[in-house]
Amino acid sequence: MDGIEIDGLHISIMKGVYPPSEDTFLMIDALKSAEVSGSGLELCSGTGAIGLVAVGRLDFIVAVDINPLAVENTRRNYLENNLYAKLCAVAGDLFAPLKKVGFDVILMNPPYLNDDEGSPKDVSWSGGGAGREIVDRFLGSVGGFLSREGRAIFLQSDLNGIDESLGRAESMGMVGKVLRSINFQFESLVAIELKHANSLQKD
Ligand SMILES: C[S@@+](CC[C@H](N)C(=O)[O-])C[C@H]1O[C@@H](n2cnc3c(N)ncnc32)[C@H](O)[C@@H]1O
Repeated sequence: MDGIEIDGLHISIMKGVYPPSEDTFLMIDALKSAEVSGSGLELCSGTGAIGLVAVGRLDFIVAVDINPLAVENTRRNYLENNLYAKLCAVAGDLFAPLKKVGFDVILMNPPYLNDDEGSPKDVSWSGGGAGREIVDRFLGSVGGFLSREGRAIFLQSDLNGIDESLGRAESMGMVGKVLRSINFQFESLVAIELKHANSLQKD
C-alpha cells in the first residue's frame, strides 16, 4: 500500500481512495495558523489526512465520507497514528449521518472540479457541471452544524466562484474570508474560513 509522511504522521493510501494532493496540502497549511480546539468534523475525509493534522488540538473528531473505502482508510490512519480513540468515522453523504450538534471546527476538501458532462462520475473529484454541487450543499447546511464561535474551513477552486461562495455564506448569516490560496496548474486553489456573523458582534 502507498503511503506518505505529513507532519510526523504516517498516512497510508488505500487503492480507490483519493491520495493527499495539492488541495489537501493547502488545507493542512491553512490549518496550521488557524485557531482549532474543541470538537471537530471532517467532511469528505478521504485518507483522513486533514483531520489527522488537526486532531491533536481537538477533543475528538467525526469523519464522514461517501466512499466506504475512504472511511476504512481514515480509520486505519487514526489507528496507525495512535489517535483512534479520538475518531468516529462514518460513511454517508455530507451532513446526512449527523444530528444538528454544534461542532467547533468543520473541515472539508470536497470534490470541486467541473464535470463537463454535467453528471458526477467520480465522486473523488467531480463537483458536478459547475463544480459547485458539494460546495453549495455544504454552504446551505454548515451554519446549522457549527457552534456559535466555531469556524469552518473548506477548499474550492477559483474557477467556480469564490465571490459566489462568500455571497451564499453571507445570505446564510455567515461571514467568510480567504485564508490561503495557491496557483496550481490551470486554477487557484483557495481555502476559505467561515464563521457565524453574529459571533463577531460584541455581546
Ligand atoms: C478531493 S477528495 C479529498 C479527500 C481528502 N479530504 C483529502 O484532502 O485528501 C474528496 C472526497 O470527498 C468524498 N465525497 C464525495 N462526495 C461526497 C459526499 N456527498 N459526502 C461525503 N463525502 C463525499 C470522496 O469520496 C473523496 O474522498
